[in-house]
This record gives sequence, structure tokens and C-alpha cells, in this order.
Amino acid sequence: MAKGEGVFLLGTQSVNAQGHLEIGGCDAVSLAEQFGTPLYVLDETALRTRCREYRQAFHTLKSDVQILYAGKAALNLAICQIVAEEGLGLDVASGGELYTALQAGFPPDRIHFHGVYKTHAELQMAIDAGIHAIVLDNFAEMERLCALLSGNKRQGVMIRIAPEVEANTHPLIRTGQRDSKFGFHLLTGDAFEATRRVLQEQRLQLLGFHCHIGSQISDLNAFAAAAEVMVAFAAEVRRATGFAAACLNLGGGLSVRYTAEDQPPAIAEYAKVVVDALRAACDRYHFPEPALMVEPGRSLIAEAGCTLYRVGAIKRVPAMEPPDIYLIVDGGMSDNPRPQMYGASYTAILANRAHLPHDRLYRLLGKHCETDPIIEQAWLPEVHEGDLIAVLTTGAYAYSMSSNYNRYPRPAMVLVHQGTARLIVERERFQDVMRYDKM
Ligand SMILES: Cc1ncc(COP(=O)(O)O)c(C=O)c1O
Repeated sequence: MAKGEGVFLLGTQSVNAQGHLEIGGCDAVSLAEQFGTPLYVLDETALRTRCREYRQAFHTLKSDVQILYAGKAALNLAICQIVAEEGLGLDVASGGELYTALQAGFPPDRIHFHGVYKTHAELQMAIDAGIHAIVLDNFAEMERLCALLSGNKRQGVMIRIAPEVEANTHPLIRTGQRDSKFGFHLLTGDAFEATRRVLQEQRLQLLGFHCHIGSQISDLNAFAAAAEVMVAFAAEVRRATGFAAACLNLGGGLSVRYTAEDQPPAIAEYAKVVVDALRAACDRYHFPEPALMVEPGRSLIAEAGCTLYRVGAIKRVPAMEPPDIYLIVDGGMSDNPRPQMYGASYTAILANRAHLPHDRLYRLLGKHCETDPIIEQAWLPEVHEGDLIAVLTTGAYAYSMSSNYNRYPRPAMVLVHQGTARLIVERERFQDVMRYDKM
């Protein structure tokens, strides 16, 4: 493809002889014609490749590592199926995610249930399904769980620790810092108190400790720091109680490529930093090396997804600064709220003339009743009404955060693989949007 300013291809994406973007061997123009727009396109090979890279990277360094896919990034039946086939475990963070996983036949003994407020009904669902672990976040939840465990039923649990590690990322996706709402805090003594209570509770089986410091993190030192804090805590618990945690889950958070400036570390590099830090800390604190879990979401699926939009209007506006040409497309904040929520950046490709230099600057906006930029400065060839635009790296936290704002039906999702496109989520209809309304 003719390279423009900051344009790149991901996964199996290529440009075919017609100058069209191809994903998984499927022509993006044909996909848009067949399935309509906006359209989420998921590259099966790219997703499976990332799953394998994760497993390979960790297993060459350490045999007892389990990779859990963080389903909050994007979850539906087909994604569950792929992740299960690739031998990963699953982190669910709500009753809806758990329900989806169970309906997909995901093995319950590979499911971990997270979240800062799990309701009675959600906890009951998790117990009934026999999932591997409930990751306890607070004392109220611990009591709710114990009350639900009747007879001699025991539930495997992990304890989520707020490790007080400041990850260098957007404040809204930082989760392990000092004032985090997630998990039991070390400084207040709650982390230790929670451990003491779980160890005394016959109905709970403590499997280990968990932390997650945030998302879209490129600074690997933050992961190493979290590993150090977690081992230090596990060693302190062992000294005080004799309990040696057999497993530490260090969460997810590795960054991905949204723009040409993003330089996400390779998975192998990340794995090495994490495993080295774990081992060094175990040495330092004379703690027996535990099994390791990591829980990536974004870095497994973000780059495997893109969204196709149709350009519906082009306006020249008296903007103070360029770009002064606005492209309005047939989606926006209801299919991807991230640009509005945290100023997330993306890269676009003109899918029907992808071979041309992407050397003109546009502002790409959605069609909702708010100013919903998708890309503030999008480099594209000359664009005409009806053109097809692919926004890259939308596989994580776009579909899963979508809404019906303005009563727009949610887009469909297709899974592309070796020239075949399979509909894995149907496009909503107006009737679906109105489904629960009552007169
Ligand atoms: C507990 C937990 N684990 C894992 C993840 C996945 O993070 P990421 O998608 O950045 O890998 C999240 C994301 O918020 C999380 O809250």
C-alpha cells in the first residue's frame, strides 16, 4: 500500500489488486455491501495468533502460567469459543459475561469472576456453575458469598489487592493506584485482614492473590513493580499465618497500537519482565515461586478488530485550526465511546481506495447528537460521500461499551478467516431497540 502519514496495517490486513482493504482474505468493500455499515470486523487469525503468542511467550519461561482472557474487552459466543479452543481461561466481570461464557460452553473450571460489586444473584450463578475462582474485592461481598454457601459447599477464591502502583496511563483506566476503588488496600490493613478472614472461613478456599494496575500500559516497569508488591505481601502473609499463596494473578494491561506513535512492547518482552520480576522478588523475600496468571484483554483482541463506516456527509467548516474538512460517518459514540470518554486516538484507512497515499487531513466524526469525534486528525486520501472508512484497533472496549444512544441499533459483527466471513453478532433492528418499552 502507498504509505501516507502514519498509516499501517494489522493482523492479516492487506490491500488487494482493486486497491481495497482486505481482512482475513475478505474484501472490506464486499463485507460492507453484504453486511451493511457500521460493521465490526474481527480477524480470527489475528485473535488466535495473539492467544498463541501469549501462551508461547510465558510457557517458554515458566511452565505453570495460565493466561485468562479479560472478557470485558469484548465478549460474545464466538469469541468465547475461540478463546476456549486456544486453551485460555476467562475473566468475567458481570453476570452477563458469566452467562455468555456458560452459554458458549466455556469450561467453568477456567472461569474467574471479578468485579467491585457482585450481587447475590451473580454470586449464586457463579457458585452454581462451579467456576474456578471468585476474586473477592471487599468485605461485604465476602459476607454475601459465605451466606450463599450452604452445607459443606466450598468456593475457590482469590483476594484482589490494590497494590498502590501508579501506572502511566489515562486516569480512568488506572486501577491499582493508592486511591483505587478496586480491591483491598494494603495501607489500610484491609488486604491482610481480608486474608486472615478468608483463611478462617471453612467455606472459602484461598487460591492466591490478584491485582490489576490498569490498561494500555507500555511502561513494563509498572508490571515489575506490581509483581514485587504482590510477592512482598504474599511473603508477609506467610510469615504471619503460615499460608503460602500458590498462585499470583498479576492482571492485564499491556498496551496496543492505535496510532503510528504507539510502540507497544512485544508480548515476549512483557512476559520476560513479569517472570523475571516475580522470580527476583521470590528470591528477595525467600518465598516459594507461585504459579502465575495474567489476564490480558486489550492486547489479545484490540488489533484483531476494526470498524467499517460509510461516509455520509462532508463539510468544510470555519475551524480555527486544521483540519477544516469534516467527514460524518454512519456510526460514532454509540458503537465506540472511547474517543469521547478518554480522548482515545485511532487510525483510519480509506477501505475502498486503500492503495492511495493517505496524505490529506480530515476530522472524522460520528452522526450522534453530540460532537462525537472518532479521529480528530485522520490522514486519508481525498474522500467522497459514500466512501468506506476502516477505523483500526477497535476490537477491544468498543463493541463491549456500545450503547443505543439516539436509539441507534448496534452494528453487526463478522468474523473473517481465509476468505470467509461469518456473522457472529446480528445487526440490531429498531424492534430490538424498542423491545422492552411499555406504553
Ligand atoms: C481485573 C481486570 N483484569 C484484566 C483487565 C484487562 O485489562 P486489559 O484489557 O488492559 O488487558 C481489566 C481491565 O479493566 C481488569 O479490570
